[in-house]
Amino acid sequence: MKIILRTGLLAGAVIFAAICGKAGYADEVQLQTPKYQFNKETIIRGGQFFAQNCLTCHSMKYLRYNRLVVDLGLDEKFIKDNFMTPSGAEYLRGMTTAMPPESAAKWLNAAPPDLTLAARYRGIDWIYTYLRSFYWDPGKPGGWNNHVFPGVAMPNVLFSYSGTTDDKGNVLEKAGYTSEEYDRITTDLAVWMRYTSDPSIIVRRQIAPYVIGFLLIFTLLAYLLKRAYWRDVH
Ligand code: HEC
Repeated sequence: MKIILRTGLLAGAVIFAAICGKAGYADEVQLQTPKYQFNKETIIRGGQFFAQNCLTCHSMKYLRYNRLVVDLGLDEKFIKDNFMTPSGAEYLRGMTTAMPPESAAKWLNAAPPDLTLAARYRGIDWIYTYLRSFYWDPGKPGGWNNHVFPGVAMPNVLFSYSGTTDDKGNVLEKAGYTSEEYDRITTDLAVWMRYTSDPSIIVRRQIAPYVIGFLLIFTLLAYLLKRAYWRDVH
């Protein structure tokens, strides 16, 4: 009896701690939600920006370049000109980075992770907020820190869009672009990563209305069939 009571108490304490811990986390970091239309133009814009600014460090090795033809309707030349930025990238292979992971780990103190599936395990709001939460922290080796990812080893590559702020949000250096442009870039990037983490979403959304239409017609037929079967049963 005592053991059951003790185990019960312990389980209760663990659940309580977990709930409190989660609540504390949510209070600390208010995630922002990007406003966007999930369409090909947004994905392509995000992808181009990613290829030019992020692929230097991060790979997307689970997404092959030629998949962009099928999903986004791009042609091979456009992909080669806009997406295959690292030298040595192969059209039939995944999106590679030019930076060898060992060197990256040495230079940056952490290897930049592959980002193909990041939106799956982090969520789109987290990515959007993370990209917008860098601040200047002179105590850090690279000078940058992040509210959502404290002690992050990634520099704020978007500083010309975000400007430079300190941890309280005071502006140290103004952004070179408008805030609309900044919102758009960070949204496009988050949408691009939403796509790479689940590329079949485009086809799924295209066929969804037909599937639902078929189910509705099928329901009607099934109902008429049922009525025909039961007509003579009294
Ligand atoms: C100079 C190299 C570099 C560039 C350029 C760079 N990153 Fe990073 N990034 C890193 C490193 C290093 C980490 C790992 C940070 C850590 O573990 O402390 C990281 C982490 C991340 C993460 C968090 C991944 C996770 O789930 O832990 C995201 C998201 C991310 N980067 C997105 C981007 C995007 C989007 C761009 C382009 C706008 C970009 N990065 C450009 C180096 C880079």
